[in-house]
Amino acid sequence: MYRSPYSPPEINCTSRGIVSGKITVLFILILTVPGFLTVLASWLEPVRLNSPSNLSTLLKDSSSADEDFLSALAYRVFNCTQYVRHSTDPLYTPEPDTCHELLGHVPLLADPKFAQFSQEIGLASLGASDEDVQKLATCYFFTIEFGLCKQDGQLRAYGAGLLSSIGELRHALSGAACVRMFDPKTTCRQECLITTFQDVYFVSESFEEAKEKMREFAKSIKRPFSVYYNPYTQSVDLLKDTRGIEDVVQDLRNDLNTVCDALGKMNTYMGI
Ligand SMILES: [Fe+2]
Repeated sequence: MYRSPYSPPEINCTSRGIVSGKITVLFILILTVPGFLTVLASWLEPVRLNSPSNLSTLLKDSSSADEDFLSALAYRVFNCTQYVRHSTDPLYTPEPDTCHELLGHVPLLADPKFAQFSQEIGLASLGASDEDVQKLATCYFFTIEFGLCKQDGQLRAYGAGLLSSIGELRHALSGAACVRMFDPKTTCRQECLITTFQDVYFVSESFEEAKEKMREFAKSIKRPFSVYYNPYTQSVDLLKDTRGIEDVVQDLRNDLNTVCDALGKMNTYMGI
C-alpha cells in the first residue's frame, strides 16, 4: 500500500441514511428551516456521506494543504468544510462553506464518471514533487471548482465554484468570458483568482475526455513508480515491481472474463 501524507481516516460511524438520493430533501430543509445547516454541520462530524459513485465526503478543516486534499481524493475521499456563511450575508462567503460543498460538490461527486475524474487528479499527486502538486491543484481548480463542459453542443458549468455562485455562473456562461479547451499542460499554468471572477475558464467535451487528459498528463510527472487504486481493498497499490504488476493484470483478467461472459450472454439473447 502506498504511504501518502494523507492517511485514510478511521470512521466510527458510516452513513446515517443520508445518500445522494435524499439530497433534494436536504436542500429543502436547508432552504426552509432556519439554522438547519448549522445543526447539520455539527451532527455530521465525522460521518461519511456515501454516494452511488462510492466516493465519500468527509468533513474536515478546510485549510488542509493541497497535498493532503489531493491525496485524500486518491482514496476516493473528499474533504469538505464545516464552516457556514454568516446569515446576515447569505449570498456571499469569503471562503468555501457548507453551502458550497452541498450545492456545488456533492451532486457531482455522486456521478461515477465525475468521481473517477476527481480521483485521477488525486492519484497523479501521490509521490509528485511540490511543483507538480501545485500544477495538479491548478488543474483541480479549473475543473472541479470552475470547469465547463459540453452538453448537446451547449456550454454547461460543472465546477462547484460556479454552481454555488449565481453571479460567476452568469458571467462564465454569458459568452463574454474567455473559454479555452481544457488541456492540463496549459491549464496548470493559469493563475487562480480567489477574490474575483476568473479571467479564463476551461471546457471539456466530457468527464471521460477530461479523465483521459489527466491520465496522459500524469504520465509526464516524474516519479519512479505508478499507482493503482485497488477497489477490493480500497487502498492504493504501488506498482514498482513485477509482483505488483502481476496482481493488477490478474484483476484485469478477472474483469475481462466478466465482460466476455456478459457479451456472450448478450449475443445469445439477441440471437447473434
Ligand atoms: Fe470547492
